[in-house]
Amino acid sequence: MQYRHISSLNIDVSAYGIGCMRLPLRQLDQGKTDPALINEKEAIRMIRKGIDAGVNYIDTAYPYHEKQSEPLVAKALENGYRDKVYLASKMPVWETHSYEDFEKMLDLQLQRLQTDKIDFYLLHALNEESWPRIRDLGILKFLDKAKEAGKIVYAAFSFHDELPLFKEIIDAYDWDMAQIQYNLLDEHYQAGVEGLRYATDKDIMTVIMEPLRGGALAQKVPVGINRVWDEASVKRRPVEWAFRWLADQPEPGVILSGPSSVEQLEDSLRIFSDLKPGCLSDDEKALTARVQKLYHNKVKVGCTACNYCMPCPYGVNIPGVFSLYNNIFLFDEEKESKQAYQKLIKDETDASQCTECGQCEPLCPQNIQIIAKLKEAHQALTG
Ligand SMILES: NC(=O)c1ccc[n+]([C@@H]2O[C@H](COP(=O)([O-])OP(=O)(O)OC[C@H]3O[C@@H](n4cnc5c(N)ncnc54)[C@H](OP(=O)(O)O)[C@@H]3O)[C@@H](O)[C@H]2O)c1
Ligand code: SF4
Ligand code: SF4
Repeated sequence: MQYRHISSLNIDVSAYGIGCMRLPLRQLDQGKTDPALINEKEAIRMIRKGIDAGVNYIDTAYPYHEKQSEPLVAKALENGYRDKVYLASKMPVWETHSYEDFEKMLDLQLQRLQTDKIDFYLLHALNEESWPRIRDLGILKFLDKAKEAGKIVYAAFSFHDELPLFKEIIDAYDWDMAQIQYNLLDEHYQAGVEGLRYATDKDIMTVIMEPLRGGALAQKVPVGINRVWDEASVKRRPVEWAFRWLADQPEPGVILSGPSSVEQLEDSLRIFSDLKPGCLSDDEKALTARVQKLYHNKVKVGCTACNYCMPCPYGVNIPGVFSLYNNIFLFDEEKESKQAYQKLIKDETDASQCTECGQCEPLCPQNIQIIAKLKEAHQALTG
């Protein structure tokens, strides 16, 4: 495992961190899964295997896996594993409405995580609605107090909004870390590379989330893009290119990925074994720039299947619909996508079930206009 020295905090973190948002799930009838039903044995085995291999950064959050991730992580970190890692978790700021709520939530999370301190405590998915609201409720004073009390070690936030807001938040407090979405496709999206460098210039550690864009950059690679990757003199799989593109850059501290199986974890650990800043040659950088351009021309909806908008009260499978819509253009899979969409129609989980209640849109970290995009997708998938 490669480690990154974080000089501002004087700690060494593993370049690869385990995100506990996409843990192995139990298989239900007909191959269905339910995010609340974690395959506990396999998830614990996976997390411990990563730690045994040198991963020292574990990321979870209150809402992941319908609130089952924190308790699972607590179990995985029993038997001495807790002392081997930096544990990160996130306050669901949308569930807090007063200063007392902040205190209650942190205490509840410490209990759920079965620990007396959270190393990196993040304000979850800050955006233009949540940031001014919790700032005015005294969140920064709360973070100071939580540090003084030893309940948290480092104060941080994760971010899903536009760059100017990112800079405003960075400038508002003496943060220890900021977590941003950043990958091949999102170099200039949300905080993007400018935000990454802005935080680094202020000596704030950065952690990267969604490095594979929820898996799409590894698994759903269009033929044309694979052809470009194949031009490289050293052959690598798309997952390796996606991780390598990030690791090449000097700024990121931890690159967090959420493996959904032990095999994926092992694969990623192998890839990370030799990834260091400066690991891409100039030719390889030119190749990745071409791939980035090709991707940008194809994506219709920038949905990362994070599931924050789910469940829809009317049953719409929002990420499922967007995935099929994108697949038409990413993989030239019109026929297959339309066929798969018929199944959603049969299950009454297709876009036409949307009543435009509006519940989902404020929850989307990608700020997708879900209602309008669902209509567009429905037309493309049924037209
Ligand atoms: N704070 C926030 O707002 C926020 C938002 C998003 C994420 N996060 C955190 O950041 C972590 C990382 O984000 P992410 O989970 O979206 O990371 P990611 O690396 O972009 O996506 C993970 C997915 O990629 C696929 N994958 C992983 N390793 C692979 C490999 N070696 N080969 C092929 N496919 C592979 C898997 O997809 P399949 O399961 O489809 O196989 C896996 O579920 C999360 O787990 C979570 O802890 C935080
Ligand atoms: S707006 Fe539509 S998709 Fe969104 S939660 Fe309401 S019914 Fe579901
Ligand atoms: S629509 Fe937004 S919130 Fe819903 S899964 Fe996609 S990215 Fe996540």
